[in-house]
Amino acid sequence: MSCNSFASIRVAGLAHTGDGATMTQLDTRALRNAFGTFMTGVTVVTSVDANGQAIGFTANSFTSVSLDPPLVLVCLANTSSNYNALIDATGFAVNILAQTQVDVANTFARPVEDRFATVDWHSGPEGSPIIDGASAWFDCRMHKTIDAGDHVILLGEVIGFDSTPVPGLGYARGAYVTASTAAEALGTGTNLVVSALIEQDGKVLLIDDGTGRMALPEVIVSDEGASAAVKKLISATGLTAQPGFVYSVFEDVVRKRQHISFLCQAAEGTPLKGVFVPLDPTALDDVADPAILTMLERYAQEAEIGQHGIYVGTQNSGEVRALNTGRT
Ligand SMILES: Cc1cc2nc3c(=O)[nH]c(=O)nc-3n(C[C@H](O)[C@H](O)[C@H](O)COP(=O)(O)O)c2cc1C
Repeated sequence: MSCNSFASIRVAGLAHTGDGATMTQLDTRALRNAFGTFMTGVTVVTSVDANGQAIGFTANSFTSVSLDPPLVLVCLANTSSNYNALIDATGFAVNILAQTQVDVANTFARPVEDRFATVDWHSGPEGSPIIDGASAWFDCRMHKTIDAGDHVILLGEVIGFDSTPVPGLGYARGAYVTASTAAEALGTGTNLVVSALIEQDGKVLLIDDGTGRMALPEVIVSDEGASAAVKKLISATGLTAQPGFVYSVFEDVVRKRQHISFLCQAAEGTPLKGVFVPLDPTALDDVADPAILTMLERYAQEAEIGQHGIYVGTQNSGEVRALNTGRT
């Protein structure tokens, strides 16, 4: 970088203290906004207090820390009404909220008298409350608490956990975001083809396209929403799966159609029609549509390195953009 380009760097986050000292302090509002650009999931952290009462608060500071030993962390504000109860607790649970659980996120972020009155929950293996319908949960034994400025870090050892294919709720720049709201914005208009890239244990569901060749489950939608269409596709397979992120958006210029493919994780189970095939070139050889074949080959490559992106373009050319799925 040349010396001149330094001059154009914006220093909005720096402010001088009023006492004339040379020390500078960060503008906390601007800093909070900058932190907020990091898209996260939303969790409800729960525990039980000394009286055996369920307690909990909404948190997006959850981070997976270590696999061996299995450790996770959340940051709790020193001002929290639950501060004393949580630093003395023997454990806590982290409930990863589903995209339909915005109300739960709001209830546990506001001063509600009994936050648990409006949710169904049960005790986890370590004794902390597990909220029904969450995408995943981790019930933890307290490993360590670490003072960290105006927050305390709760480091927990995972004793029990579960996860489902239900897509999680996202949070970015102070707003809740979901995979399907993003898809609705893309999926309006006529002549839209929606397909479901349904994955189970590293395999993808392919169905007979009627000519003996293989295809993804797909449907042409005229005026219904893209996520309604993909839900119908999933339901026709008899599998338990939810529409997750949009994996590919492309304009099929030959058929004059817009094409959207949703990535869907399926739970264990056998499909009513079609078959799960491994992501290798021989198995994918039978896929008829070259654009879908290219997409599946990309999916296979990305699955190997555990990093997916979204394709935007035509069936012949376009670009792959990173998916904002946050940390995994
Ligand atoms: C999306 C979202 C994420 C939040 N993340 C955190 C967090 O990580 N840590 C925290 O202490 N508070 C967080 N809060 C704020 C608390 O949920 C909120 O202050 C709540 O009222 C705390 O309740 P308590 O004082 O009863 O613990 C978050 C709020 C929202 C809406």
